Amino acid sequence: MARHLITSAIPYINGIKHLGNLVGSQLPADLYARYLRQRGHEVLFLCATDEHGTPAELAAAKAGKPVADFCAEMHEVQANIAKGFGLSFDHFGRSSSAQNHALTQHFAGALYKAGLIEEVTEKQIYSPADGRFLPDRYIEGTCPNCGFEDARGDQCDNCTKQLDPTDLINPRSSVSGATDLEERETKHLYLKQSNMREQLQDWINSKTDWPVLTTSIANKWLNDGDGLQDRGITRDLNWGIPVKRGTEDWPGMEGKVFYVWFDAPIEYIACAQEWADAGQGRDWERWWRTDKGADDVTYTQFMGKDNVPFHTLSFPATILGSGEPWKLVDYIKSFNYLNYEGGQFSTSRGRGVFQDQALDILPADVWRWWLLSHAPESSDAEFTWENFQASVNKDLSDVLGNFVSRVTKFCRSKFGETVPSAGEYGPTEDALIADIEVRIRAYEQHMEAMDVRKSAAELRAIWAAGNEYLQEAAPWSVFKTDEDKAAAQIRLALNLIRLYAVLSAPFIPTASAKLFTAMNTLDTSWPDDLRASLGSLEAGHEFSVPDNLFAKITDEERETWAAKFSGIRT
Ligand code: MF3
Ligand code: ZN
Repeated sequence: MARHLITSAIPYINGIKHLGNLVGSQLPADLYARYLRQRGHEVLFLCATDEHGTPAELAAAKAGKPVADFCAEMHEVQANIAKGFGLSFDHFGRSSSAQNHALTQHFAGALYKAGLIEEVTEKQIYSPADGRFLPDRYIEGTCPNCGFEDARGDQCDNCTKQLDPTDLINPRSSVSGATDLEERETKHLYLKQSNMREQLQDWINSKTDWPVLTTSIANKWLNDGDGLQDRGITRDLNWGIPVKRGTEDWPGMEGKVFYVWFDAPIEYIACAQEWADAGQGRDWERWWRTDKGADDVTYTQFMGKDNVPFHTLSFPATILGSGEPWKLVDYIKSFNYLNYEGGQFSTSRGRGVFQDQALDILPADVWRWWLLSHAPESSDAEFTWENFQASVNKDLSDVLGNFVSRVTKFCRSKFGETVPSAGEYGPTEDALIADIEVRIRAYEQHMEAMDVRKSAAELRAIWAAGNEYLQEAAPWSVFKTDEDKAAAQIRLALNLIRLYAVLSAPFIPTASAKLFTAMNTLDTSWPDDLRASLGSLEAGHEFSVPDNLFAKITDEERETWAAKFSGIRT
């Protein structure tokens, strides 16, 4: 059995995420983690909230709360939503944790010792009234392009033109409205990534099995234009991790914090420390330090394509540059975007279905199934209410739910709520078992390869095979002439229900658990030997008819939701 470290990109703290965020990292990571655990591997699955940076400060200000309080509250909100979707993190950490503070400062110290940090003096807007330097988006003024009066220092929201704060006419501080802004010199730290270009290129080149989406983005950044740029890793903000090298103060860096994209990926490691600190006898170093056993670990990261440059270049530059024996990622599974009804999901514009809203209207499994079976792997995907209704009604109700309901109810009415004992399997049963055997092995391969859509398609085909068998075998008519034969058919079908519970658990864990309960079994073992597995529920074993597994989405519901979510969430 192997050891697998799995991380999902850590979501920003400022607000509730939409469904596109879920399917782009956390949900497929959960699918993979659940699958590997089920196959007996040792898994450490980590995620956290990404709590620093200007968006967090701004969102807290908007909510009228101190930023630390705001983050603590939003972390709980996001943790509950994750629980609601059945995301099986071993730990859901916080990038603002004490562990991440210390580790981020440690990495900065190591990079400094390795000669990879440069101190650069640059000019930035300072607001004497606020007593602070202002990041671009904290400066507002009139757009030189369209005359819009509330343009931000980085962009005009009216005409979308990208701006520099110095472009603005009549600039003012968005913190206080002060207009006596001035340019002042300030010092920042740069990570000399360009020194590591060759090392990073060799490393990327060695990853021949990575998805093209991942390597093409990495290579573009390595080779486009001037190639890999050195990167500013500090900011003039209050909220964040204070700039230190190790535990020492950094002369000239007083009052500054690390850039959010510097500390966020380090949280992947700090999160393991948080996990260890939260439970007795846990050892995080065997997951992260190659000198402490992490050489045996397979590390897989899940993320949306916009995150790829940071994970293929910036974070590896931090790790490699430290010269210390930290684990590097082994495989990066990246995703395209999920669109919403002909446009984009947008957090800032409140467009689409947000995770809390989704859970308010339907059970998590329904979302999990649709999102995973339509994961934006080879291209962007699109959510439409029509497709959603049609897909989940067909797959979950007509195929899986219907099979379970027909089999259990028929058995109850003819043989009672126990597995019938009479009869033998014939050629139809043998053919079904042979077919399912092939499909299970394909399913395993797709799951291992993290081919999410293909895995879903194979699982759907395994459910459908059961339905087709039932249609063909027709125990309800066979029963009239040959009760024993009908009994054998139903014995097999009941065992298929248990098999479906096992195979479907990574996708729809709640429904799977209901099936195990209904089948009254603790045998959740994987069908390495399919025939043996299909004998798990023996003659005479008692079961119960489960409640309807999946309610169908009605046309009326679809219309209501399509209208409800057509607008902008404020
Ligand atoms: N918060 C970022 C986003 O949602 C992802 C950060 S991933 C990490 O796009 F590697 F930086 F942690
Ligand atoms: Zn404008």
